[in-house]
Amino acid sequence: MKAIAEAPSKAIITGEHFVVHGAWALAAALPRRVRAEVSESHRISVTSDRFSSAEAHGLHPIIGVVEAMAKEFSFNARMRVSLRSEVPEGAGLGSSASAMVAVVSAVSRLHSLDLQPSDIIRFSMVGEREIHGNPSGIDAAVCAMGGVVLFRPGNAPKRLSLEGRRTLIVVFSGKRRSTKSQIRRVAAVKGTFPSFFGGLTEAASEVSLIAAERLAKGDMKGLGRILSFNHAVLSTIGVSCRSLDKLVDLVLSLGAYGAKLTGAGGGGSVVAVAPGGKEKSIISGLRGRGFEAFRAEIPVEGVKSWLNR
Ligand code: MEV
Repeated sequence: MKAIAEAPSKAIITGEHFVVHGAWALAAALPRRVRAEVSESHRISVTSDRFSSAEAHGLHPIIGVVEAMAKEFSFNARMRVSLRSEVPEGAGLGSSASAMVAVVSAVSRLHSLDLQPSDIIRFSMVGEREIHGNPSGIDAAVCAMGGVVLFRPGNAPKRLSLEGRRTLIVVFSGKRRSTKSQIRRVAAVKGTFPSFFGGLTEAASEVSLIAAERLAKGDMKGLGRILSFNHAVLSTIGVSCRSLDKLVDLVLSLGAYGAKLTGAGGGGSVVAVAPGGKEKSIISGLRGRGFEAFRAEIPVEGVKSWLNR
C-alpha cells in the first residue's frame, strides 16, 4: 500500500524576514506542487526527481521528519519516500516546506494518523529548521493550509477569505540562494541597528495587515503600491540585489501595478500584481527576455493526501 500527498508551493506577499522577528506577514499558496509517495520498506530511503543519488544527502532533513513522527506515534520509520516536484529549489517559492508538508501528510495517511494542519506544520518544522536554521514557520503554514494566510509567530495562522479569485505574477530571477544565509544576514542588521530594525519590523507588520485588506477586497492597484513599498524596505535591510532590483523595474515597465522580491531574497523570485487582463502580456514580455514566469490564480487548496491500494 502506498500513500500519496500533494502540497502547494508559496509566495510571500508581504512581511518576509520581519516575520522571523515577530511581524505579521502575508503569504499565498501557489499552484505548483510537490508530490510525495510513501510506502513501507525494509529501510528508510528518500529519492527525488530533483536530486541525483550523489546529492541525496540534501534529503536528510526528510529522514529527520519521518523519524520524529515514528517516535511520537510509535511506528516503524523504515519506509520508501519518493518526491516529485514542480517547484525550483532556492527560488523563494517554498520548495522545502512544500516537500516537508507533503511527506508529513503522506506518512500521516499511511499510518491513519489524521493529523490536523497544526501538527502537519509542527512536524514539517523539524526538517525546515535543519535546512534554514531559524525559520518563522510561515512557509510550512501556507503549504499545509493553502489559500492566503496571515501569519505571525506565536499566533494561530489566519486564513483570509477573498471576495473572488485573484491573480499573481511570479517570475524566477534564475539566481538561486540560501534562505539560511539570508536569515543570518538580517539578524546581523538587527544586531547592529536594533531600534531602527524594530521600527521597520512594526512598519512591515502594518504593511501586511493593509495588504491583506487590499487583497481581500480585490484592490490590486492599492496592493501593488504596497508591494513596491515593501520591496524598498527589504532593499534597506540588504536582502535585495542588483538582479532582483532590475527584475522589479522590468516588471513595472511592462505594466504591473507593483512588484517585490518574494521569500528570502538575494536572488530567487519576484511577485507582482497587474491590471486585470494585462498579466498575459507581462508574462510573455518576461518569457521573451528569458525569465521563467507564470501566472498564479489564487486561492489554491492546501495539502491533500490519499491511499493507493
Ligand atoms: C522565506 O520564505 C521567508 C523568510 O521570512 C524566512 C521565514 O520566515 O522563515 C525569509
